[in-house]
Amino acid sequence: MQVWAIANQKGGVGKTTTVVTLAGLLAEVGYNVLMIDLDPHGSLTSYFHYDPDELDHSVYDLFVTQNEITQNQVNSLLCSTSVDRIQLMPASTAMATLERRAIDHQGMGLQVAKALRHVKDRYDFVLIDSPPVLGVLMVNALAACHHLIVPAQTEFLALKGLERMVRTISMINRARKKKLNYTIIPTFYDRRTQASVSCLRELHKCYPDELSSAVIPVDTKFRNASMKGVVPSSLDAGSRGVHAYARLLRSLIEQRR
Ligand SMILES: Nc1ncnc2c1ncn2[C@@H]1O[C@H](COP(=O)(O)OP(=O)(O)OP(=O)(O)O)[C@@H](O)[C@H]1O
Ligand SMILES: [Mg+2]
Repeated sequence: MQVWAIANQKGGVGKTTTVVTLAGLLAEVGYNVLMIDLDPHGSLTSYFHYDPDELDHSVYDLFVTQNEITQNQVNSLLCSTSVDRIQLMPASTAMATLERRAIDHQGMGLQVAKALRHVKDRYDFVLIDSPPVLGVLMVNALAACHHLIVPAQTEFLALKGLERMVRTISMINRARKKKLNYTIIPTFYDRRTQASVSCLRELHKCYPDELSSAVIPVDTKFRNASMKGVVPSSLDAGSRGVHAYARLLRSLIEQRR
């Protein structure tokens, strides 16, 4: 089982879209995929038509349990989606309160990693959608993953957010035994705009080793897929956006070998 976290401290850069699109592409080639929504806003959860305000069980449960996390508890968190091979561990809005609680409860950084031990034979890939805030939830995502994917919007304001994220990765690496490798993916790329073109050039200059060669273009199909609650590749497998994510996926799987 491979665990990838998708994170950036900047909002609206395409994190949730990256999770959903990669999950769809992985399922298409026969992999079993678990998506975990760690964002209290629950965009990924809402995407698949679950209401983060109404759920009986969510990732929240992992953080308020008094005892060891059990197999049954993890099973109770798994929800089906519109795709057979993809399951979801949903978020609830109550997770917004966790950041405050975490100060009282030391050692909350490994709850997701501990839960994943119970499903390691069931899934080939786990994709974790992280909130755009550095706190206990993002720390859980970074601690549980083997590889980190950082979507970065190709505009100059996003570069600042990316610098912050890279500093966070260095901080996390000081605490981890094994170095966390990451891939930056340029998103919302529009080659007709000077802002996109020069931002991509800057990304190449600053992060030559981490930058993905796959560039995700602006593509309205992503929004259409999210409105329908389906993975983008099932709505339009030939779209430019899906093609770019397929290229990204090939390079990520290649790196893993
Ligand atoms: N490449 C793209 N082209 C066009 N629209 C996109 C693209 N990627 C994402 N979007 C749309 O932009 C919006 C924000 O994307 P998304 O929710 O994936 O970002 P996010 O980083 O998860 O945001 P947040 O920080 O709020 O969780 C969504 O409506 C999504 O459909
Ligand atoms: Mg999101």
